[in-house]
Amino acid sequence: MLWIHPLLQFAATGLAVYVLSLGWVRFQVNHFGKRGKFMWADHVKLGKITHIIWMAGLVLGQYAVTREWGSNGVTGNHYIIGQMMMPCIAGGYITGVIMDRDKKKRRYMPLVHGVFNALALLLALAQVATGWLVIREFMLN
Ligand code: HEM
Ligand code: HEM
Repeated sequence: MLWIHPLLQFAATGLAVYVLSLGWVRFQVNHFGKRGKFMWADHVKLGKITHIIWMAGLVLGQYAVTREWGSNGVTGNHYIIGQMMMPCIAGGYITGVIMDRDKKKRRYMPLVHGVFNALALLLALAQVATGWLVIREFMLN
């Protein structure tokens, strides 16, 4: 039970790196006038999968902690960073859906979307480190 969350979140974070690499092409086209083919459909599909796993994994992690150790928050920084990721995921998802449903040339919304998601990914990478500490201290001991 305790291993499901870390494995899911690790896989989703790897996927997010790939989704960002697709978005990076668009970023350079949108803001630096470069040429490049943005894999729109792949970006949206894999981006949605990433966000859904992150959110489901977050809920599962909290459930697992409550079940095993009584109450949420015992993991300290890992818990706090997890809560910080929530608005980033929500903001990234909502702006992504809006831009996907109504395709047109935009300047600022893609930027807001990119910042939300890049921040989410940065925090997720920090979660790999803090999550590893949780595994070492609570599960391997
Ligand atoms: C971890 C997940 C994601 C990352 C890291 C990410 C990253 C990015 C980045 C960096 C851009 C370029 C922004 C710019 O040009 O300033 C972009 C564009 C875009 N993303 Fe995402 N994204 C993610 C998830 C999603 C999701 C879930 C959706 C849809 C539901 C989505 C839809 C789009 C669309 C439609 C664009 C093109 C916007 C435009 O140029 O008009 N993305 N994304
Ligand atoms: C990527 C590597 C990650 C690892 C190795 C990891 C590891 C862990 C572990 C071992 C737990 C204890 C519960 C359990 O095992 O099910 C946990 C709990 C938790 N994780 Fe993660 N995690 C990772 C990523 C994430 C991410 C990306 C988020 C947020 C989206 C997150 C949010 C949480 C939350 C909120 C808890 C409950 C903490 C508490 O109540 O104290 N984790 N994590």
